[in-house]
Amino acid sequence: MKRNLGMSKKRRKLETGWRDTSKNEFLSQLEAFQPAQELLFPLGRAFGRYRKYLEPASRHPAKMDSGLIGFLVKKYSRTGDVVLDPMAGSGSVGVVAAALGRDAFQIELVRKFYGWMNEAADRLAADYTIGNKGRITNLCADARNTSKLVGQEIADLIIFSPPYCDQNHYSDLSSRLGQLARSKTTGVGKQAAQGKFRFSYSRSKRNIGNLKGEKYLEEMRKVYAESYKALKQEGLATVAVRPLYRKKTVLDLPDLTWRLLKDANFEMVSVYKLMLIRQSFWTRLYEKKHPEVPKIRHEYVLVVRRPREIEDIVHVCVSSRERARLLEWIASTTKGDIE
Ligand SMILES: C[S@@+](CC[C@H](N)C(=O)[O-])C[C@H]1O[C@@H](n2cnc3c(N)ncnc32)[C@H](O)[C@@H]1O
Repeated sequence: MKRNLGMSKKRRKLETGWRDTSKNEFLSQLEAFQPAQELLFPLGRAFGRYRKYLEPASRHPAKMDSGLIGFLVKKYSRTGDVVLDPMAGSGSVGVVAAALGRDAFQIELVRKFYGWMNEAADRLAADYTIGNKGRITNLCADARNTSKLVGQEIADLIIFSPPYCDQNHYSDLSSRLGQLARSKTTGVGKQAAQGKFRFSYSRSKRNIGNLKGEKYLEEMRKVYAESYKALKQEGLATVAVRPLYRKKTVLDLPDLTWRLLKDANFEMVSVYKLMLIRQSFWTRLYEKKHPEVPKIRHEYVLVVRRPREIEDIVHVCVSSRERARLLEWIASTTKGDIE
């Protein structure tokens, strides 16, 4: 499916230059076994129609596209369902979900972001022009404790947009940025000198965005395993994750994320790729410096499911006396078959 909502080819070309670079475009390994459907949402102000609620949070450094959130909430949940975002950042998932009549649970580690999330929830609650709103429950806590915080098997849908690993990874650009900062006469130099391009959620070691490599993956594995427990059986989770430029190559974080999800027992449902319309200052600088590195033009969205557990199927099929014998038999016949 391709969504070209009201944007002309000419405008897309102007905004992204995507046509010129598509030959050297990065594709995730994921696409080798799961074809990805392309999504495109129109470029607008941060948070689109939800901006009046989320305005204080517009300073969050890694906001999810609110068009994408609306698409996922409508497609993968129903009115009255519970939507969970364990790493909620600005709180946009909660606002969109509640405005669409779902109840939302949101967890965020950084107190400043948690304050923005509460303000957004209050603003939405006070808007009487929207009927049948859901409830938003915000928690300032660690996503590695998700099921202990919100309970087991409570969510119908989880929407993840995990932090980038090693947020301060643009160290190989620091010398270029240093030059810019020294030439304070240019707009960019001024902003760089004021630290406006520093990308960081917080300095805390508990913030998974500050971790690198294996350590990052290990902690994200814990978040997915905990969130799995909070999801209802047959519930769905979506994970929006971008490939990253690292050491003159591209880190296939979407594929690595799929492996973590698989380890946590999730099964694959589908994959989307969202076209990135506007490149950040950092990305443009990186691409200029390393034209040989494949271009990142998409964010991947993985849709995965928590399957129904065999024990439950047995429970509805047979009497309790036969259940133990049947389970024993299933275990002996499926040994090694079930991942
Ligand atoms: C990519 S952002 C989320 C963006 C959000 N969906 C939005 O649209 O604004 C990832 C968030 O995860 C948070 N985070 C990092 N480590 C965390 C942890 N251990 N527990 C909870 N949140 C964490 C970061 O502070 C950051 O706000």
